Amino acid sequence: MRCLWLVTVLSLFQLASAAIVNITVDDQNGGPDGIEISYQPPNSWVQGAIGGCTDCPTPAISNLAYMNTFHGSLFNQGNQKNSQQSPPSAILAFFGSSVSVNCILSNEVSNPVGISRMTFSVDGIQRNTFTYTPTGSSTFQSATVFSSGPLGLANHTLEIKNGATGGGSSLVILDSITYSTDDLTSPSSSALAASQTVQAPDSPPNSSP
Ligand SMILES: *[C@@H]1O[C@H](CO)[C@@H](O)[C@H](O)[C@H]1NC(C)=O
Ligand SMILES: *[C@@H]1O[C@H](CO)[C@@H](O)[C@H](O)[C@H]1NC(C)=O
Repeated sequence: MRCLWLVTVLSLFQLASAAIVNITVDDQNGGPDGIEISYQPPNSWVQGAIGGCTDCPTPAISNLAYMNTFHGSLFNQGNQKNSQQSPPSAILAFFGSSVSVNCILSNEVSNPVGISRMTFSVDGIQRNTFTYTPTGSSTFQSATVFSSGPLGLANHTLEIKNGATGGGSSLVILDSITYSTDDLTSPSSSALAASQTVQAPDSPPNSSP
């Protein structure tokens, strides 16, 4: 009897953890259910190239990128190569409980310089910044540049801003955004958590996964 009960509790734990899924939204192809990143102003980001810089060479980095695609933007009001007047943004609205941003960083020191200065906001509140200084080699690398940590499971809006007004040169090569969410087709994890709490007094100390 006790054995059967233990099996039931363990399968509840498995259901609860299986309900959390990570969803990756590609910069170009979006994610499931048609979710897409929006780019503002639209012409400041270019798929497969560097928006805002007409004479920057096309970086040969699609092999580094999720789904082989990326969106680049350069912002520097003081740089004659740059045609944008306000910092470019990439925005994603999602239903989830955390979010992270994946970019490709450039180690080039010219045309354009790989200095990157990003600001991340969730629901209009600034959460973090990311700054990168290129090493001077002609290489690129992928990196997670922002992780939100836990957010309440709800609708959220993430904004990635490239550079700042009057803030110097900034290059962003955006690859993808990953968010975690509750797979609502499975039993809700809060209902399962409640049943675990009720049954916990008899639970052996090492029954947690
Ligand atoms: C989701 O991503 C986070 C962060 O990378 C990772 O710790 C977690 O194990 C992933 N969860 C699933 C269900 O893949
Ligand atoms: C989240 O946003 C979507 C799209 O706007 C809406 O259909 C849905 O009802 C919202 N969900 C919650 C829990 O607010």
